[in-house]
Amino acid sequence: MRVRLKRDAICTLFLLVVLCSLLYFQLEHLVPVGNKELTQKKPSITSKTFSDSRAPWRLMPAEATEPRLQVTPVLRQREVANKRVQTTTLSPLSDSAFNFKGYLLNKDNRNFDLLINQPKKCRRTPGGPFLLIAIKSVVEDFDRREIVRKTWGREGLVNGEQIQRVFLLGTPKNRTVLATWETLIHQESQMYRDILLWDFMDTFFNLTLKEIHFLNWAAEFCHNVKFIFKGDADVFVNVENIIDFLERHDPTEDLFVGDIIYNARPIRVRKSKYYIPETMYGLSIYPAYAGGGGFLLSSHTMRKLSRACKEVELFPIDDVFLGMCLQRINLKPILHEGFKTFGIVKPSAAPHLQTFDPCFYKDLMVVHSLKVAEIWLMWNLLHSPRLSCTQKKQVKKPFQWKKKAQTTM
Ligand SMILES: *[C@@H]1O[C@H](CO)[C@@H](O)[C@H](O)[C@H]1NC(C)=O
Ligand SMILES: *[C@@H]1O[C@H](CO)[C@@H](O)[C@H](O)[C@H]1NC(C)=O
Repeated sequence: MRVRLKRDAICTLFLLVVLCSLLYFQLEHLVPVGNKELTQKKPSITSKTFSDSRAPWRLMPAEATEPRLQVTPVLRQREVANKRVQTTTLSPLSDSAFNFKGYLLNKDNRNFDLLINQPKKCRRTPGGPFLLIAIKSVVEDFDRREIVRKTWGREGLVNGEQIQRVFLLGTPKNRTVLATWETLIHQESQMYRDILLWDFMDTFFNLTLKEIHFLNWAAEFCHNVKFIFKGDADVFVNVENIIDFLERHDPTEDLFVGDIIYNARPIRVRKSKYYIPETMYGLSIYPAYAGGGGFLLSSHTMRKLSRACKEVELFPIDDVFLGMCLQRINLKPILHEGFKTFGIVKPSAAPHLQTFDPCFYKDLMVVHSLKVAEIWLMWNLLHSPRLSCTQKKQVKKPFQWKKKAQTTM
């Protein structure tokens, strides 16, 4: 009798162990452990569907007019996310994981000092500038700022309109090299008078702070501007096209134009860089927002947004945060075909054109994810007096790389 009881107990124990390990492996399989995920890595769900690591929460549209889709199979991943949320208190977060709790706790700490200002930026021309170009950058990206200054971000008259430029910066996150960068940024600011530096750490999840502080700055120091272009430093902007477009609009009316993303869903996969738990955003769909590559707004809208954003709770994804501010003032952002904030899909869009064919960029406004050299080349080709896009064969290649030479490059 005792032996049987013992055997039963062992049997039960064994079954329990098997069950537990089964459960464990199941979870392990569905949700890889946090420390495997590095912030630099693109979320695996993006695979090849995205051309841009900054905003992989939506699919690359086959055609810009098609409704934007979201890849996450919502239901199952939400279940998984929920399971994880329950266990997060036990598993230590890796260094790269975003600390939501800390973010939520610190959310009210949203006013930071302006360390470098350009108070006269918009006072140089009597009526104020026609267009203010505001570019998100990080202190370390000196070369990107240089190329923007020399190409599409030039200050002065373009097609008869006055253009001014500012770069939006926070303090470098690598504190060990702070002294060097401090010297550089002061020198750079004195030289170009286009640096705005705020006293918050320049991290991906602090871009929302940049958004808020820039809008406040513009409302205070640049209220006489007519229009604003705000974008990233890795874009190519066809300023002539933008001016042409803006000249047909009234700066005293509402205007917000860009690559607008509709019905995007919050990513509930914990390992994604863009993971947003339901505790942070409970709704299943984000408000319409502009892709980060760049967007345009009128002076009137800038002032309204700067007030509205003060009343919106901080949200770690800046594009979406601005969408929430837009929603608050009941303003519908306008989608414009000229904004390609996800880069261009060459084969389907224009198979007969070369990568660097300037004619391809001629009718666009903003193209995202370009290298420094590409921005330089595109701007120079587009401004070449010999540019003619009416014929089929536009640019003659001056020479051809030899096949062998290519491998050694
Ligand atoms: C910070 O910069 C220093 C000097 O360039 C470098 O050695 C160090 O690895 C950097 N730290 C991080 C965390 O990137
Ligand atoms: C944002 O900046 C503040 C101030 O520098 C810093 O304390 C905080 O950790 C940063 N937040 C994130 C999410 O990087």
